[in-house]
Amino acid sequence: MNFLSTLIKKRDGLELSAAEIAEAVKGIVLGEVADYQTSALLMAMFLRGMTEQETLALTLSMRDSGETVDLSDLNFEGTPSLDKHSTGGVGDKTTLVVVPLLAAGGVPMLKMSGRGLGHTGGTIDKLASIPGFRTELTVLEAKAQTRKIGAALIAQSDSLVPADKILYALRDATGTIESVPLIASSIMSKKLASGAARILLDVKVGRGAFVESQAEAEKLARVMIRIGNGAGVPTGAVLTSMDEPLGKMIGNALEVKEALHVLTNRAEVEPRFRELCLILASHGFVATGKAKDETEGLQMATALLTSGKAAEKFAEISAAQGGPDTIEKIVASLPNAAVQHPIYANTEGFLHEMDAKVLGLLAMRVGAGRERKEDTIDFAVGIELCGKCGVKIANGEILAILHLTKNDTENRLPELEKAFRDALTIKPTPLLDERPLILLTL
Ligand code: URA
Repeated sequence: MNFLSTLIKKRDGLELSAAEIAEAVKGIVLGEVADYQTSALLMAMFLRGMTEQETLALTLSMRDSGETVDLSDLNFEGTPSLDKHSTGGVGDKTTLVVVPLLAAGGVPMLKMSGRGLGHTGGTIDKLASIPGFRTELTVLEAKAQTRKIGAALIAQSDSLVPADKILYALRDATGTIESVPLIASSIMSKKLASGAARILLDVKVGRGAFVESQAEAEKLARVMIRIGNGAGVPTGAVLTSMDEPLGKMIGNALEVKEALHVLTNRAEVEPRFRELCLILASHGFVATGKAKDETEGLQMATALLTSGKAAEKFAEISAAQGGPDTIEKIVASLPNAAVQHPIYANTEGFLHEMDAKVLGLLAMRVGAGRERKEDTIDFAVGIELCGKCGVKIANGEILAILHLTKNDTENRLPELEKAFRDALTIKPTPLLDERPLILLTL
């Protein structure tokens, strides 16, 4: 294999063939290529960009670099399986609502998820805050469970897409994360290897997302849709705002509690989070042929939520995977942080911004997330926001509650409180131009 000639060709801005890309990925995974050469190729791809053909070829080579799962035999009377994927955000616990919702409506939902890294959370960490809930099921076990009760929520196997583990770590270390073709191939190789028959992407846009501008996010979504469709898996996407955190809770057990509040129709649920869950579920029903259009999909999703059927399905999934068997027992089993520390407003006005990235990083600092893969996390800690962008704030009212360990409370409370306040922008005038939640449907 001549990796160097491939690297030089890309450096000079020429298009690589599918065979050259496949050879390069193979060499990288077999350990035949030095990290510095792989890093140089990534930088050339980042700076020169990649054509759609190159991006598709890279995605397919990455998909085929490890184990692949086939879910084509998992369909209920013709309804195919679906994978809902978020490109990563802060407070994004939609999977915990959307999976039982779609499963309650008859869509086979074998969902493989990852752990959180950096300022964004991961579904598997959220589920791990439920005592006893096992996410380390084999694909065979998860398939059997899905056939029986309609859904399974499991950790993505380590043997899926080994190329992405190598490439992502090098991208992280070489400043080559923020590239549309590299993000698209990283995400879509894992989605295609996971085997679902339909893919629904929630592409996050804004300060707490990988992509900040709507134009870039749209480009990313369109590339991923073409990759999915090109690989024979019908793929759709919605672009949704991630300027402020989704919902009011950030942190693993707190987010499970918030998802369960939506599933049980509690009055205090944050409307934008609930709305996003219903919209994603409605797209899922349309994509799998369960609903003829979004209006019908939304009606189905709303009915399944308000009737409590989606909540029952979540409890069924929990029981099947070793967790408590009712929503009440799950809520009661969630860990609570040692200290709940309120933060009070020291001014009055209107809340214009709550920087999702800053708050995601703060949640990570108090122990809810990991900076490095090997870090351990504390399921109980996090941030509970008391308002959302647009609300009027009175001086002295509670802005948020920090759920903290005793150690953080005793040793760095002022620093944590300051970090929280720095994430907020409060102005004397009302907020009139908030970015809508759903920016585009593709
Ligand atoms: N998520 C991924 O899996 N890969 C990326 O490159 C970015 C977000």
